[in-house]
Amino acid sequence: MNQPNMIPLVDLKAQYFGLKEEIDKAISDCIVEGNFIKGKIVTEFENAFSQYLGADYCVGCGNGTDALELILKSLNIGPGDEVIVPALTWIATAEAVNNVGAEPVFVDIDQNNYTIDIRKIEEKITKKTKAIILVHLYGCPADLEEIIRIAKKYGLFIVEDCAQAHGAEYFGKKIGTYGIASAFSFFPSKNLGAFGDGGAIVTNNQELANSARMISNHGQLHTRHSHLVIGRNSRLDSIQASILKAKLPYLDKWNRNRIEASQHYISRLEGMGSIILPRVEQNKTHVYHLFVIRSQKREKLIEVLNKSNISCSIHYPKPLPFLDAYNYKKHKLEDFPIAVKITNEILSIPIFPEITDSQVDTICDHILKIHKTF
Ligand SMILES: Cc1ncc(COP(=O)(O)O)c(C=O)c1O
Repeated sequence: MNQPNMIPLVDLKAQYFGLKEEIDKAISDCIVEGNFIKGKIVTEFENAFSQYLGADYCVGCGNGTDALELILKSLNIGPGDEVIVPALTWIATAEAVNNVGAEPVFVDIDQNNYTIDIRKIEEKITKKTKAIILVHLYGCPADLEEIIRIAKKYGLFIVEDCAQAHGAEYFGKKIGTYGIASAFSFFPSKNLGAFGDGGAIVTNNQELANSARMISNHGQLHTRHSHLVIGRNSRLDSIQASILKAKLPYLDKWNRNRIEASQHYISRLEGMGSIILPRVEQNKTHVYHLFVIRSQKREKLIEVLNKSNISCSIHYPKPLPFLDAYNYKKHKLEDFPIAVKITNEILSIPIFPEITDSQVDTICDHILKIHKTF
């Protein structure tokens, strides 16, 4: 629980109280209707979300990790196949590949935008490579134009991991609509978050949408008790869908607030040599799921921010290839020099749509004070 004067990394209560009536009504309507699994509200949310993104199909599922797994299964990716994954992301991106029996192949990240380094993808492509999963990390769109070129050249699928980038845009078009399919997470702290786990697959490919829906519902598609394939259970609950449907109309406004808060941070902190700020790149709308700065004195910064009741966190402390789970790959630090360097410097500082100018100023004052003593 947040302490009274604390500035949290994310303030979920502030968002709830801003929309309390609408959310409470959505939940109670859902309870009164009594259709908790596969209720009509799930379809309504799926339609609203695909329309918002400009995509043809949306299939709700249990969480973002399942969304990735359902996409890979629907693409028939499995044992013997390889999938390219960035070295810096949440483990779910790679886990999904392992969990369908395929092998994640890690690629280092770009030192400016922290998404997959487009110059290092081709050297990792083999005859076994079937897909590239790109991650729009922290809310920043990956370098899609070049990734699309590479994928076309080698006949690979592009799967977008959009768990951190609801509403972000690339050349004015929403991310999540560039690849064969995209995976969204509605984990509570995401830019569009539920009150528990939730996820979705978004695609323009009808066959893939049907396949993902079928696998996620025990192999049934249109007819109950007609199990066409061996599937599993990964569905979006009606209560979560009702909350997401109530929140969706506010997503763009919340993203604008995040962008404004980020601009405020940047205007206060730019020009300080020892702090590296997120880059604003052309033709991309970064939606700042996280506001990540870099400092070579990160540990001191953490100590001072914590003492001043300001939350901060590291996303993520280790590149995926160096997590114990991936020891079996026997990677060396020099295989991923940028991810290694960056994970020693990154720090996420508070960002959420309701953050006030005065909270941002307080955080900047502390950072500037520390900077002067460096
Ligand atoms: C980049 C990325 N991919 C996938 C996921 C998985 O989403 P979920 O927690 O809903 O399974 C997350 C969640 O944090 C994420 O940040």
